[in-house]
Amino acid sequence: MKKILNLTGKLAVLMLMLSLTGCYYDEVIEVAPLPPEFEASFVNDIQPIFMAKCASCHGGSLTPDLREGNSYDAIVNGVFIVPNDIDASVLYQRLIGNGSIMPPGNPLATTDINLVKSWIEDGALNN
Ligand code: HEC
Repeated sequence: MKKILNLTGKLAVLMLMLSLTGCYYDEVIEVAPLPPEFEASFVNDIQPIFMAKCASCHGGSLTPDLREGNSYDAIVNGVFIVPNDIDASVLYQRLIGNGSIMPPGNPLATTDINLVKSWIEDGALNN
């Protein structure tokens, strides 16, 4: 009896591990909403994320250029960022894993994804 329980336990752990790794990049990331009064600033909230997590690769030769001073014009172009439309914003979709996930293999914290979402939904201003 003890042996059977042991085996069931091990199987349960294995199944759990498989389901966790299996789901990780196959499903888009669920992002909990920020309070409606919250406002994200491009300069203070969004650009620092790009500098810390993206510009090492997106530093000029790789589209979009996410370096400070270049990023706003490079992304708010109706493709990477469509103001007020997260579904149409390719950059946002990449953050939640719809298409290859960005940064590759190393998703942003959901708080950071939420900041980008909030900024887009408030019109993606250069603020
Ligand atoms: C380790 C390098 C690396 C990092 C870090 C990285 N990217 Fe990328 N990114 C790539 C590569 C390579 C591609 C092109 C291949 C692809 O689309 O998957 C790409 C493609 C993209 C695209 C699509 C470009 C197109 O023409 O469709 C977007 C948008 C993007 N990245 C945004 C970001 C953002 C935002 C971050 C930071 C949160 C980020 N990336 C971090 C390497 C990186």
